Amino acid sequence: MDKFNWDRSDLPEGFMFGTATSSYQIEGHGFGGAGRTHWDDFAATPGNVVRAENGLKACDHYHRYAEDLDLVAAAGLDAYRFSVSWARVMPEGRGAINQEGLDFYDRLTDAMLERDLKPCATLYHWELPSPLADLGGWRNGDIANWFGDFTDVIMGKIGDRMHSVAPINEPWCVGWLSHMLGHHAPGLRDIRATARAMHHVLLAHGTAIDRMRALGLSNLGGVFNFEYPHPADDTPEAMEAAAVYDEYYNQFFLSGIFKGEYPARVLKAFELHLPKGWQDDFKTIQTPLDWVGLNYYTCKRIAPNDDPWPSHQEVDGPLPKTKMGWEIYPDGLHHFLTRTKDVYTGDLPLLVTENGMANADIIQNGQVNDPERIAYVDVHMKAVQRAIADGAPVEGYFLWSLMDNYEWALGYEKRFGAVHVDFDTLTRTPKASYYALQDALRR
Ligand code: FCB
Repeated sequence: MDKFNWDRSDLPEGFMFGTATSSYQIEGHGFGGAGRTHWDDFAATPGNVVRAENGLKACDHYHRYAEDLDLVAAAGLDAYRFSVSWARVMPEGRGAINQEGLDFYDRLTDAMLERDLKPCATLYHWELPSPLADLGGWRNGDIANWFGDFTDVIMGKIGDRMHSVAPINEPWCVGWLSHMLGHHAPGLRDIRATARAMHHVLLAHGTAIDRMRALGLSNLGGVFNFEYPHPADDTPEAMEAAAVYDEYYNQFFLSGIFKGEYPARVLKAFELHLPKGWQDDFKTIQTPLDWVGLNYYTCKRIAPNDDPWPSHQEVDGPLPKTKMGWEIYPDGLHHFLTRTKDVYTGDLPLLVTENGMANADIIQNGQVNDPERIAYVDVHMKAVQRAIADGAPVEGYFLWSLMDNYEWALGYEKRFGAVHVDFDTLTRTPKASYYALQDALRR
């Protein structure tokens, strides 16, 4: 397969196509006076990251951003979703500003506008400044104001030119994946830390939205990730296990923002751990949004077990898998787009802010043939079209990712890009999926 089975005419007028990246995964954190982050610390701890790789060099986007944005523009894309690094702008997380860092994002913004690309910013895509981690990081409720102050600094500089802004990429990963499962920095496995981090992420989200409204910014949203939980079998126990997973993974954050409450099963487990006066925070958490972004990759099979709450485990599923071992299940994307509208957001515009796959991409004769990625995007775009036909107001789709990059705990091993990166020479080579996208967008 080397072409998509859709083009712009299959989608509503004005439907926005983009690609997404994040700062720590591509920039090269060793450049430009950025401060240390908890990802540098996590990667330096044995056993956390494949080959103990970190983001100090990454794709060296810091110096090669013009070439990278040329690729985004030449693909025919409308928008570029990027993130800003807190520690690049404020190396200690608070106080002193690194002018070089601010200037970088200023240049990057102008470079997008020069190429007619809509800048879609994320304020936090996971690299917390280490000095803030020392103070408890997301466990400390003061983080909402630290984050608000960072928001003022960075958006005071580039906010006037943003098409859209979201405060925090994937609150579930910041909260659960990093504090309950320990798979991401800071690598904790602690239910109390998890409950507090998940609540504080929402408080910081609302605080940042309020700060940006005060600065006069508009088109502000939130970006959440979703996984479709299939019960491993049809016993009531497996159904209950999947329902618990659905609540803490897929519903906790939307429920907090759009209903001002936490889902019942999670609340029961979290209540004794939440910070004092947590109910009062919903006033901030519920501050209105202009759009909601969904990141979607896969489904899971959930089986009950005898562990303490949430008392379940993932088991292997039957569908074809990507190189992440993730089953390919586009119906899940349709499900979350329609459910988000029906249960939480109503008429609010929805965007697919991430979707894509890791593949074993290799260069042969100067070319990278990735029909698997073309097929993956194709079936997910079909799911988007079905969701639109069923009434979900989906207004855009962003491919994760522009180029191969630092895939967190999996280091440089998992390739998600439409553009191949040779991590020794840093040469960029567009893959067949890049050309297929270009063809579909221009057709
Ligand atoms: C998402 C993250 C992104 C990348 C993709 C594969 O959860 O937002 O940084 O790791 O998964």
